[in-house]
Amino acid sequence: RADDGYRLWLKYDLIKDATKRAAYARSAQFIVLNSTNPVLKTAADELQTGLQGLLGKTVPIVANAGGKTGGILLTTSPVAELTNEGYRITGKQNITITGKTDAGVLYGAFALLRHLQTRQSIDRLSLTSNPKIQLRMLNHWDNVDASIERGYAGQSLWKWYELPERIDPRYRDYARANASIGINGTVVNNVNASSRFLTAEYLQKVAALANVFRPYGIKIYLSIYFPAPKTIGKLKTADPLDPEVNQWWVDKANEIYKLIPDFGGFLVKANSEGQPGPQDYGRNHADGANMLAKALAPHNGIVIWRAFVYKADGISDRFKAAYDEFKPLDGQFEKNVIVQVKNGPIDFQPREPFSPIFGTMPQTPLGMEFQITQEYLGHATHLVYEAPLFKECLESDTYAGGRGSTVAKVVDGSLHNYKLTAIAGVANTGSDRNWTGHPLTQANWYAFGRLAWDHTLTSQAIANEWVTMTLTPEPQSVKTVTDLLLKSREIYVNYNTPLGLSRPWTGAHFAPEPWQNRSSRPDWTAVYYHRADSIGLGFDRTVKGSQALAQYRPEVQKQWNNPETCPLPYLLWFHHVPWTQKLNTDRTLWEELCTRFYTGAESVGGMQNEWASVKKDIDPETFANVAGRLATQQKEAIWWRDAWVLYLQEFARQPIPAPFKKPD
Ligand code: GCU
Repeated sequence: RADDGYRLWLKYDLIKDATKRAAYARSAQFIVLNSTNPVLKTAADELQTGLQGLLGKTVPIVANAGGKTGGILLTTSPVAELTNEGYRITGKQNITITGKTDAGVLYGAFALLRHLQTRQSIDRLSLTSNPKIQLRMLNHWDNVDASIERGYAGQSLWKWYELPERIDPRYRDYARANASIGINGTVVNNVNASSRFLTAEYLQKVAALANVFRPYGIKIYLSIYFPAPKTIGKLKTADPLDPEVNQWWVDKANEIYKLIPDFGGFLVKANSEGQPGPQDYGRNHADGANMLAKALAPHNGIVIWRAFVYKADGISDRFKAAYDEFKPLDGQFEKNVIVQVKNGPIDFQPREPFSPIFGTMPQTPLGMEFQITQEYLGHATHLVYEAPLFKECLESDTYAGGRGSTVAKVVDGSLHNYKLTAIAGVANTGSDRNWTGHPLTQANWYAFGRLAWDHTLTSQAIANEWVTMTLTPEPQSVKTVTDLLLKSREIYVNYNTPLGLSRPWTGAHFAPEPWQNRSSRPDWTAVYYHRADSIGLGFDRTVKGSQALAQYRPEVQKQWNNPETCPLPYLLWFHHVPWTQKLNTDRTLWEELCTRFYTGAESVGGMQNEWASVKKDIDPETFANVAGRLATQQKEAIWWRDAWVLYLQEFARQPIPAPFKKPD
């Protein structure tokens, strides 16, 4: 049967190597589960499903080993080296999967399957792993009408009109995929939230989803519309200091927890991009967050308050807005509030410096928000493997507590001893049969989960795992596709936004529009960001410019504040560089830009060839799907190149350098 990509990395095709299969089978003759706990039951069922596929036989689930060896034992026990959701897998006569909690056992079960899927040895099995971040979440930007904001893989997975009565089996498959990579929370609706999600009618629907996710260790969260007390509560105000408003939220929290006892909490976009919020009443973000936090606290719920804020203002630098609004509030948030920060200061660009807030709010848990869906990365058409982008940010050094104070250490809580830690990925899933539209960008969902669990994993290791589990275990093809994934982001940056350019588009955020200079908001034009003029290109954020660089620690400023030494990937983020300026590549800015645009676009052809070389090992449907998308990407990379080069040439007034110039 053709694989349509539905099974993701949980394919569990039969292991062809009979010796290996037999070795695994000897250690997996039965599964021992001595509990009726639903999460443990999931663990046993998942093992059974996986082993059925990999070994080609049904491995029975039994209540005890009865003195036999050669089985897999599932147990919870307070092992010292395990944190709440961690697992330990040891193998002697039996393989024992131990978790401190039920969820730990579930993650251990998936880890064991992954071990077999990637054909590793089970002799002297000894694997211990604890998640580095507590809340590992997907954020769905899904609307009531089933559309998905910035979604490129069809409609929403949630069929609100059928819920709560009909449960689409796909909800369970979604939960399986997430649990397999350690995701333990999901926000099911858009941050630009409709207050309908808080009505009694919709809470029933949300509760039905929560019931499906619970046995997979996944908690449900909702995005809220801040003025809901007005829109659905009939109050005259949503002022967070108004006692009636406070009471409304207390009552609403009580209502939610009656239906969903383990409800996770609220995600809030407020006073951002036109969304209402506490500032409408002269209050600040902490006032708003704390009101909600107090309503949720008795139920152990949390508030995730987003720091993605900026004003409709073409004069000041948007780069600085979040830091300016949030840093003064450090220490003012309730204990169950997390401030969720996008990885960069602007908005999920193909490459951004890390947000300067990381490392500057030691008393406020800061969560990371990455975007898995490819809003600025070619939607579901262009291939961009995002693990290198995520890692680049996580490994950036904030110098907040001296050298080595990476963003990862801020987010995992180790730098400032945060009691709450969180990381979120804006989902790239949708109703497309293969979940993500582009078959290869399932790897981004996978990579997000794996890094949320352990940010020290390498992009290469994750790609390797994903390809082996999802596409083919054939070593040569695994290597080829892994290489392809690893270079894809840099190739995209080269033809799309090289040297630190940003936001050369408007509207749908897909096609090049660097010339765009008019909009309802002055900060929503392309020219606001790239600042091309007759002298040069780039946004001066040094002391002579917007001074955004001053928001970073001196050591970071030192890396970036001199245009002569600023690393090229960040150059135009911080400097307005003359067209004729020689860079350390020995080319002028203009020549370097052309080089990147041309080689970037050309490299897509290389990716096509590499993909063609693995054809024999890939399911034909998936192969053709990717080949088609790469061909579109090739066409569009040239389109990007030409749009940029022709536009910038109007300012640079120089010819295209010889190696790239076509003969007349
Ligand atoms: C981007 C995106 C919006 C989204 C916003 C956000 O600006 O284009 O669609 O709502 O980010 O993260 O809130």
